[in-house]
Amino acid sequence: MSVSKPLPHDAACLHVTGAARYIDDLATPADTLHLAFGLSTIARGRIEAMDLDPVRAADGVLEVLTSLDLPADNDVSAAAHDEPLLSDGTIHYMGQPVFLVVATSHMAARKAARLARIDYSEQTPILSIDDALAAGQAFEPPLEFVKGDPEAAIACAAHVIEGQIEIGGQEHFYLEGHVALALPQEGGDMLIHSSSQHPSEIQHKVAGALGQPFNSVRVEVRRMGGGFGGKESQGNALAVATAIVAQQTGKPVKMRYDRDDDMIITGKRHEFRIDYIAGFSDEGRITGVSFTQYCRGGWAQDLTLAIADRAMLHADNAYHLENARITSHRLRTNTVSNTAYRGFGGPQGLLGIERVIDHIAHELGKDPKQVRDVNYYRPMSDAAKETTPYHMEVTDCVINEMVATLAKTADYTERRRAVAKWNAENKILKRGIALTPVKFGISFTLTFLNQAGALVHIYSDGSVHLNHGGTEMGQGLFTKVAQVAASAFGLPLTAIKITATDTAKVPNTSATAASSGSDLNGMAVKAACDQLRNRLIRFLKGEYAVKSQDIRFEDGQVRISGHETLSFAEVASRAYQNRVSLSATGFYATPDVAWDRLKGSGRPFYYFAYGAAVSEVVIDTLTGENRILRTDILHDVGRSLNPALDLGQVEGGFVQGTGWLTTEELVWDDKGRLLTHAPSTYKIPACSDRPAEFNVHLWDKGLNQEKTIYRSKAVGEPPFMLGTSVFMAISDAISACGDGRSYPALDAPATPERILFAIKAQQGREGA
Ligand code: MTE
Ligand code: HPA
Ligand code: CA
Repeated sequence: MSVSKPLPHDAACLHVTGAARYIDDLATPADTLHLAFGLSTIARGRIEAMDLDPVRAADGVLEVLTSLDLPADNDVSAAAHDEPLLSDGTIHYMGQPVFLVVATSHMAARKAARLARIDYSEQTPILSIDDALAAGQAFEPPLEFVKGDPEAAIACAAHVIEGQIEIGGQEHFYLEGHVALALPQEGGDMLIHSSSQHPSEIQHKVAGALGQPFNSVRVEVRRMGGGFGGKESQGNALAVATAIVAQQTGKPVKMRYDRDDDMIITGKRHEFRIDYIAGFSDEGRITGVSFTQYCRGGWAQDLTLAIADRAMLHADNAYHLENARITSHRLRTNTVSNTAYRGFGGPQGLLGIERVIDHIAHELGKDPKQVRDVNYYRPMSDAAKETTPYHMEVTDCVINEMVATLAKTADYTERRRAVAKWNAENKILKRGIALTPVKFGISFTLTFLNQAGALVHIYSDGSVHLNHGGTEMGQGLFTKVAQVAASAFGLPLTAIKITATDTAKVPNTSATAASSGSDLNGMAVKAACDQLRNRLIRFLKGEYAVKSQDIRFEDGQVRISGHETLSFAEVASRAYQNRVSLSATGFYATPDVAWDRLKGSGRPFYYFAYGAAVSEVVIDTLTGENRILRTDILHDVGRSLNPALDLGQVEGGFVQGTGWLTTEELVWDDKGRLLTHAPSTYKIPACSDRPAEFNVHLWDKGLNQEKTIYRSKAVGEPPFMLGTSVFMAISDAISACGDGRSYPALDAPATPERILFAIKAQQGREGA
């Protein structure tokens, strides 16, 4: 069976040879027009006057559009109708699209976009979390989950700590920047190629902007060169811009952002500040905790509310909190509109409790692992009926056994001793080690999004055409889902034609997000394939007078007990001759989930994915530089659909999560200008930044207790949070720099500067 085999990504050869076609590689007609946005140069204010004549006069420019030239809806927002394609006169952030240049080439459009003369009346921008709090700028009133009586529990706790962590944002840095190509069709219809995780939303926004029904717009996505959440909503602007100009001119229109523009215009991971107070026992058991999460949403709502919700929903991580209060502030600022990014607020929420645990351990002079151990949810076999702070029962907890296994294979206890010995003997280089867990909720918290569709054809030669609502961004979804189809028919993977996501084949799709791509689309494809298989079985039963169980599909053959063995192709051909329908749609809706976000009640997640990592680091106390010496990971993907792809996801997620917490720093100046808008100043992890020793394993006991596709678990986002182990190991190394009396309270990202400041603070207190 194809499912569970470690098969390579279906496009692996195409990726490495450069033959994979991304949208910018598609041949375009000779008369294709190219677009660029003119961007605001202030962060907040009004446009008083605009002189676009120099733009119009520039070489290659055919036209310049402002918001007044748009045919219908000036909106590219994901949810709240608060995001104009082109500024309506108000400026909300520096880099906001103000006008649209139409030119004969990409370079001509870009060069001309810089020639505008715009007079603004400027206002003081609201940039930081503090600014937004002072100005009372929020997308909705604070939300709160309460379980038990945290204040009373803290008041009578044996020990109490209080603190704060600042958590930076993150640029997606997908290798393929945003791009869209609009090809006008007859009768006013539009075909869009878009680098989007959400083709249906592109369809809806384009239709709205053209004043057309959804059925006149078709969106196709073969692949993205990475999305990571950054292409869930942020592709809308380019698709809408190209469609409008294509409609007005009747010509093909293409737009792609240059890297700097991509970084300046599009949203990123939300910055957070988390305040905490925790009461705990002598062993470190948390008896009461209160978190206040402040989240910087940027200028428009986008997905901020759901992201802030998910941060609240992960404030417990893998720990059973009997008394907890989680308060969340969703703040509006004059910065880029932050958006989905792998983990979707989960990583920020999780970092809050991991900080609390680390702080408690420091306070008690204990190994943080011991404090973690006494706080975990109990294993599922205990049928413990422990609940999360949002009152959902945790019935599938496997973290205890995973942590015990990992601690052993990674030799945690012995290495912790060795680290202490090293630190006693070395003054300049200090080491640190940490083991951190992940528990991540799987499902869209907006319950209705947990649905998917598929379309499968068997042609009369036995070849299979596969389509579903998910998009491919490198994660291997298309391969996994094709494995499901291949397994249903007993065919090799090569017999399945994987085709581009297409809103005309499967309608009304959700974004490929929330790690749910294979859970949802895998099931929808299986539903379609099972129907087709059943039709073939019914046909063969009639032909051979056998029972269903006498018919087996395997190795490209159809074996009929007591009769001949037919090739799958022969069966397809004969079924066709006998007028059996060989095309089916499939549909899946995740059962048993229902969540009311404002009441904070229900079951937001179908199940949880678990993982744990041990990282050891070394820091240079003279420079703040650091290296990851070794990382060991054990991650639960249930019964893997494809262990090779899953390992890739775990490794990639970990590295990306580590980048977020160490090297990647977004810097804005006091006018709201993003200073780090290119790889020269924004540092994603390089190959040399990976752990010197990197041992990654899938948990071999992994099994989803829920009836997911072949009992697998989602893998896309959860491993991102394993990067926390590096951050906590750095904190551990810093605390070895002084007399150990004060807690380092490191903020994220732990850049060399921040590490150096923290070391100085420790050393400054030495002997004090
Ligand atoms: N892996 C690669 N190579 N490229 C990506 O863009 N996106 C991540 C994750 N892994 C991503 C990736 C994110 S943010 C999500 S939500 C999931 O893949 C989406 O795909 P899935 O639901 O099929 O796992
Ligand atoms: N991740 C998690 N949850 C989500 C996402 C995502 O990217 N998008 C919408 N809900
Ligand atoms: Ca981006």
